[in-house]
Order: sequence, then C-alpha cells, then structure tokens
Amino acid sequence: MSTKATVEKLVSLCKRRGLVFQSSEIYGGIGGFWDYGPLGVELKNNIKQAWWKAVVQERDDVVGQDAAIVMNPTVWKASGHLDTFADPMVDCKECKKRFRADDLVGAVAAGTHGHEAAVKASRCPECGGELTEPRMFNLMFKTYVGPVENDASTAYLRPETAQGIFVNFLNVLTATRKKLPLGIAQIGKAFRNEITPGNFIFRDREFEQMEIEYFVKPGTDEEWHKHWVEERYNWYLGLGLRKENVRVRRLEPEEQAHYAKDTYEVEYLFPMGWSELEGIANRTDFDLRRHAEFSGRELEYFDEESGEHIVPYVIEPSAGVDRLLMAFLVDAYDEEEVRKETRVILRLHKDLAPIKVAVLPLSRNEKLVPPAREVWALVRKHWMSQYDDAQSIGRRYRRQDEVGTPLCVTVDFDTLEDEAVTIRERDSMEQVRVPIAGLVEALREKMNTGD
Ligand code: GAP
Repeated sequence: MSTKATVEKLVSLCKRRGLVFQSSEIYGGIGGFWDYGPLGVELKNNIKQAWWKAVVQERDDVVGQDAAIVMNPTVWKASGHLDTFADPMVDCKECKKRFRADDLVGAVAAGTHGHEAAVKASRCPECGGELTEPRMFNLMFKTYVGPVENDASTAYLRPETAQGIFVNFLNVLTATRKKLPLGIAQIGKAFRNEITPGNFIFRDREFEQMEIEYFVKPGTDEEWHKHWVEERYNWYLGLGLRKENVRVRRLEPEEQAHYAKDTYEVEYLFPMGWSELEGIANRTDFDLRRHAEFSGRELEYFDEESGEHIVPYVIEPSAGVDRLLMAFLVDAYDEEEVRKETRVILRLHKDLAPIKVAVLPLSRNEKLVPPAREVWALVRKHWMSQYDDAQSIGRRYRRQDEVGTPLCVTVDFDTLEDEAVTIRERDSMEQVRVPIAGLVEALREKMNTGD
C-alpha cells in the first residue's frame, strides 16, 4: 500500500475527478451501491480487458461466455446457496444497529459459523449494548419473474457468476470440441445483500466478478491449482502492484467455502489491513455432480485416453473488479513535494490509466487552437485521450497526474514554426520535443501498449 493513501483521500479524489460516485447520491445514497463516472468506467474497463487478455486471449485452453444474471432458481438449490450462503448476524438491543457476528470476533479467526462463545461475549462496538443471539441471514437478493409474486415465481440475483458457467459446461464443451483441461471465463455483475457493506468499494452489495472455472481431470487438480495461484499472483505484479503489498495465503480448513477442498487467497495490504483480492479454490467435482443430480443431466466428459466418462474437477480463480480497482488506486496513489507544492499522482500502470494522453495547448490563444485540435484528432484515433485548455499549464499537468495520465502533449508557439510538440512524462516529468509527423510513433514507443 502507498503509505500516503487513506480511504478518505481516495473517496474524495474519486468523487472530485469522476472515478466513483455514491449511487443515487441526490437521494442520500444507498448502502453498498456505487456508480462509476467517466474516468472510473475507463479504469474498470481497462482492468477487465487486462484480465481477459491474460486469461482468454493469450491462452489456448480458456474460452469466454456471458450468462444471464437471473437463472432458474433450482440452480441455487443445487449449488448450495439457498441452504448455506448465509452470514451470522446480530442486532444491538440498545441502538438497533446490525453486525456480522464474525466481524465482531475477527473474520479470519471466526470462520463463518463457529465461535459462538466469542460472539456471545461481545458487546455492541458502537454503543456497548447487549447483542441478540446470532441468526443466519441468506445473502441472496430475491426477485419475482413475471407478473405474479409468489413462491413459484421467486428468483434470485446471482451471488456469483460461477454457476452460469457450470450449467453451460456441456454446451461450451460441445460447441468448442475442446479437450480437458478447459477453462471457461466470464465477467459480470454479482449481488449479495451484505449485512455490513463498507470500506468504500471493498465490500458492496452490487459488484462485478471476473471468474474462471478451469475443468481438469481428477488427480491433476492439485498441480493446476498451483499453476493458477502463480499465474494470478504474477498478473497483479505485472500490472504494477508492489510486491510488498501482495501476498498469497492458504485458507484454514474452517475458512473454506462449502464447496471447496482447498483455497488460496491473493491478498492486498489495504489501508484497513490485509484483505482478500481474489480467491483461488479447488471446487472438486462438487458443482457438476450437484447440477447433474438436480437436473437429471449427465455432466460428464469422455476421456479418450482412458475410454471412460469422468466428472471433471474444477479450479476456480475468482476476483472482484471493484476490489481490484480499489487496490490499484491505493497502490498507485502518491504525494510528493514539487516546487513547494504537493503533487498528487496516481502511478497507475499504463495499461490501466483511464486517459493515456492529454493534449494541452499552452494557452487559449486563437493561433494555438487549430494545431492543438489537429494534434488531438491524430492522437484520439489511437488512445483514450483528453483535450484540456482551462487554467495554467502547471495546473493542467497536476490534474492529469492526479488521475494517472502517463503522457501529456503540449502545443506551444514554437509549434507554429517547427511543427513539433512536447511530450511530458507523468512519473519523471521529463519533456522531449518531437515532430508532429512522428508523434504517434513516439507516443506508442513510450506507451509500449500498442493500440
Ligand atoms: N465463485 C466464488 C466466489 O464468489 P468469493 O470469495 O465469495 O468466491 C470472489 O468471491 C471475489 O469476489 C472476492 O475475492 C472479491 O474480490 C469479490 N467479492 C466478493 N464479495 C464481494 C463484495 N461484497 N463486494 C465486492 N467484491 C466482492
């Protein structure tokens, strides 16, 4: 973590610069829901694209899909979510506030269901009042499909994207004619009625997941599990998270989800401490067997080598986009003294930066506007870019630094003579002069991201 980033500073920067807003803010907001503004949606898209490139585009053993959010409710019976996807909740008898019981005794130590004695001994963290007995609270949001609201029409907003992959396993296998190991990747919204959402976008009620269900032959699962833990850890470092802020932790048996034999978490050192970024679980054949049982369909793979029908095991790397976005912001946030002023800077990886290039005419002088507009037209074909001519050039550089723009291009009065412009780098603040004719090539070289 950057020692300079606090949750308060991030929330303020995100609002001020159009990264993240509280949902329905003009009505007082709604807990656990957030909106992404013009720069936030760019950052989010860049995170998703970087993930898709690494796990689908650059591999020959993973394909993509996009399933519906509302599914046949039997899916959630089969997956175990209707019966077990619940958190223990307690209410304060005095101030009526509601808490997750495991938060009161430390989530890691408590697991989900245990430690009743420790919970009983706890008092309300807000007012010190007496707490109720823990009650299990199912985290799935309910809705109704069609015009009649009754038990038969009840459906759920998916609490994970994963089940949309399990129920499509045979469709994808047949359509692609692929062999095992085969991964199916998906990015999409998930919903959980969290008891205590919080820490900005870390724990939300609506969020986005990037999940892979990687189907393997039983017996090879542990080896593939190791492979995916390494792959995913290195992906974070490749996108610039500092090594000292990222760690891998193996979960204790009592921390495992109901479907998992073994799980590793990639954790990040957030301002509130080490917390999960991504879970990488060995789900065994739990889900395929359960869906086979509940649907009556055989969800098997014919293994030509052994001549047998097998139920594959599954390794599942599962990450949350919003949580990753927060980690990338925390890690990139920096403040430094430049000419007796504080320069706030997001040292984001170039692939993630919402705006890649800003085009800045030195002033609004009418002679500078046409060439500056022409330069912008040239640049915007290749990269997400911005044109900014408001206030002093120094201020405009700071504005771009603050949102992580790696390169600024300045058009000045010399441009009118020499048909050249200045490229200024965010991190070093170094400036080089290049001819407009070679600008795109020079930017591409500095960006090293292609277009
Ligand atoms: N399919 C497995 C699964 O959903 P999970 O550990 O519950 O596992 C995976 O969730 C990832 O989704 C987490 O590591 C986290 O990044 C993200 N996530 C989970 N709940 C979240 C929430 N309430 N708000 C934001 N992100 C969340």
